Amino acid sequence: MELIRSRQELSRLDPWRRRGPLVLVPTMGALHAGHLSLVEIASRHGPVVVSIFVNPTQFAVGEDYEAYPHDLQGDLAALAPYEVAAVFAPAVDQLYPGGTGVMVQPGPRAGPLCGAHRPGHFAGVLTVVAKLFHLVRPEVAIFGRKDAQQCLVIDEMVRDLNFAVRVIDAATVRDTDGLAMSSRNRYLAPDQRQKALCLWRGLTAGRELLTRGERDPEAVVAAVTTELAPADAVDYVELRTVPELNPMPQVQGRVLLAVAARVGPARLIDNLVLEVGDSGVSEGVLLEDQS
Ligand code: PAJ
Repeated sequence: MELIRSRQELSRLDPWRRRGPLVLVPTMGALHAGHLSLVEIASRHGPVVVSIFVNPTQFAVGEDYEAYPHDLQGDLAALAPYEVAAVFAPAVDQLYPGGTGVMVQPGPRAGPLCGAHRPGHFAGVLTVVAKLFHLVRPEVAIFGRKDAQQCLVIDEMVRDLNFAVRVIDAATVRDTDGLAMSSRNRYLAPDQRQKALCLWRGLTAGRELLTRGERDPEAVVAAVTTELAPADAVDYVELRTVPELNPMPQVQGRVLLAVAARVGPARLIDNLVLEVGDSGVSEGVLLEDQS
């Protein structure tokens, strides 16, 4: 596994490019089983490059940029058992040599949900992902469905800015009790981790209601919100269409049930992608290209 710290060293990827389509897994490090599942999926498509970079531009003032965990040695050890061609872990001045004068402006899918609650967040995400695509030049990139809106916003950028990258989304990895794995779970004390389970309980309550035939989005949102009572604050509970992320008068077709809540020091998000039809409710597809 090569460790690449600068833009110049990226030429070391060229021999790997000849072995198959290069596959990029962008991360901010503090790797957990969710990240590692992306690496495993990536290795089925071609030589894997994992990027590790805590991107300052996607954190708003007052968010956890300063506190975000950095553990490069731990991350390299976690990746060692996997088929990884290279880790790209640049310093900030490598990715932002000229500062932040030019940024990618997100499309309409970035409007609601986290886009509404974290001003500038998706401009930061898209800017760093665009930089990584230009520098690493992958043919495929893997993102987690845990950040469903992020997947959809990146998919929209790839389409609208003509990036020649195939974006694949990967299922959310959960602890056995349902809590979605997240680097921010490290912030939780044991009692807070227990409280954090309310996100998953809320989502499953929402799915259950839909399975019983409820089609009024407000009723579903109310049921989920009730379960979120243990959280310290609820940012949002919403049902949105996939992929446009529009609100809906009646729950029908491909939908995203998304929650964001604060528990202690952590802002946590989770979601379910569902296909809601006359004959029932099943797991839905987020991005069209699932192969
Ligand atoms: P980060 O939060 O480190 O996540 C990196 C990737 O891992 C993302 O695609 C995310 O959706 C995925 N991921 C996180 N938790 C997961 C889980 N429990 N199951 C499956 N996948 C999971 O997302 C980012 O970093 C950044 O915004 C980034 C895209 C790297 C841009 O800076």
